[in-house]
Amino acid sequence: MHRTHTCGELRVEHIGATVTLSGWVQKRRDFGGMTFIDLRDRYGLTQLGFNEEQDKELNERARSLGREFVVKVHGTVIERSNKNDNMPTGDIEIKVSDFEVLNAALTPPFTIEDDTDGGEEIRLKYRYLDLRRNPIQEKLVLRSQLNKAVRDYLNDADFVDVETPYLIKSTPEGARDFVVPSRMNEGQYYALPQSPQTFKQLLMVSGLDKYYQIVKCFRDEDFRADRQPEFTQIDCEMSFVERDDVLDTFEGMIRSVFKSVKDLELGDIPKLTYDEAMRRFGSDKPDMRFGMELVDLDDVAKGNGFGVFDKAESVVAINVTGGNNYTRKELDAFTDWVKRPQIGTLGLIYCRVNTDGSYKSSVDKFFDQDKLKTWAEKCDSKADDLIFVLSGNTHKVRKQMNELRLHVGELQGLRPKNKYAACWVVDFPLVELDEESGKWHAMHHPFTSPIPADRDKMDTDPGAVKANAYDMAINGMEVGGGSIRIHDKNLQKRMFDLLGFTEEEAQEQFGFLMNAFEYGAPPHGGIAFGLDRLSALLSGTDSIRDVIAFPKNNMGRDIMIDAPAPLNADQKKELGM
Ligand code: AMO
Repeated sequence: MHRTHTCGELRVEHIGATVTLSGWVQKRRDFGGMTFIDLRDRYGLTQLGFNEEQDKELNERARSLGREFVVKVHGTVIERSNKNDNMPTGDIEIKVSDFEVLNAALTPPFTIEDDTDGGEEIRLKYRYLDLRRNPIQEKLVLRSQLNKAVRDYLNDADFVDVETPYLIKSTPEGARDFVVPSRMNEGQYYALPQSPQTFKQLLMVSGLDKYYQIVKCFRDEDFRADRQPEFTQIDCEMSFVERDDVLDTFEGMIRSVFKSVKDLELGDIPKLTYDEAMRRFGSDKPDMRFGMELVDLDDVAKGNGFGVFDKAESVVAINVTGGNNYTRKELDAFTDWVKRPQIGTLGLIYCRVNTDGSYKSSVDKFFDQDKLKTWAEKCDSKADDLIFVLSGNTHKVRKQMNELRLHVGELQGLRPKNKYAACWVVDFPLVELDEESGKWHAMHHPFTSPIPADRDKMDTDPGAVKANAYDMAINGMEVGGGSIRIHDKNLQKRMFDLLGFTEEEAQEQFGFLMNAFEYGAPPHGGIAFGLDRLSALLSGTDSIRDVIAFPKNNMGRDIMIDAPAPLNADQKKELGM
């Protein structure tokens, strides 16, 4: 038998018991005639004690154990003289009577403890060692719980788990495809799915009614902390539904997940239209943990001879509660922060609201106390607050202000990781204009239906058409998105037409779907959530890499197995490459 207990299990009530434990040597401490070893497994750490006086040879052998050796120990649970309140097993230790080395280990390239000395690259190269660390294992366990909570909820709601193929044709989710050459069809390629979008719609045509799949998706896109080239979606689709049926079902899923994984009741999930989200937060995935909403200053800031405002399409402000205590140096740092190319403003204007109610702005030359008072009234500012102002192109300046709002919120401690605020954003634009090509692009994907009232504008004013599409954002991260689909062949044709597909191109790429729509397609809609992003949020980490067992680095490489790699000549020949 390798073990009677795990390394996280023994407590005072086990004192006197004879036990066998197996695990890894995390740390060895040698004191005079005594040796202590922390033995680790997934469940925790247990201290092992060896005493030269009691068994000289055993103590000598214990001193030869290196870090990460795999050992099986046999001994008695005794009370610890030096209790450690920080460890669940800190009241006891094992007085070892014998042990066996199950496997020796090379010295690991970094310390395998909660706080490691290893940099990211080395930890990714030896990911199997990094995965021995508690903080990472905890995240994988949480991910597994999340997975189960999702399945429980969807199975209970009568969703059917259906697998869809990985070797397919391009699905247009807006990223580049990863492609796989076909040996039997020389010169031809499969694409890996960016999502199972078209298949889940076909399953609705088939009458499956409620589908889900926890599924890998592949997108060749640029690196970000919340993106991986292969990631996992909770992909869902339902028939005979309208928007709110979908939102209610999946609001229920998210609530149930938070309850079972974190024992948390998620508060209200407000619905904001895209236009409202952009106006109030400058973002289509607003962080609702705090206020500091954007304030339109156009009518009080323009027309006072300050050219920067007068020329701008929009003047936008945020009020920072208690922000008047920022020093001049700190305000300069904010200015530098927004002027970085990532944000790209030309400057930053501020107005202090002093304790005595007077104002001090960086544009005092143009705005007297009365004028500044109108700013403060619009911003609902109180004594000791600070107003930040940006101006420029409406869309751009709102996005910039969103970044500043998030930055200030972070610094002010308004975005704690253990607080969660979700929202739905609905009524996205159907299409957006690509400035370079002058072509319309689907904002979500080409299968999303326009809001019925806007359908006629598809030909005359496509940019004004709203889509029956929705996203869920939690803490400023887009965690899910979906839509009510087009289920009518002619409308789908019109959509492809708007997106600049010729009839032949549409037929070649999506003929199978449009044909299916001729055989009785029910009205349907759905959504997909990012499982990695939800796991990261629930684990309180910023990077989805932390919740993926074997992630890619920021160049899309798996540096542990060293992929991607060139093919050898034989493989190439076989594939006709
Ligand atoms: P969308 O493209 O919005 O919609 O993706 C759905 C969700 O998947 C997650 N996600 C990602 N997570 C990690 N890395 C990535 N590269 C990545 N890309 C997307 C996000 C996102 O909200 N077929 C549609 C869904 C539908 O219409 O039902 C789709 O894929 O959390």
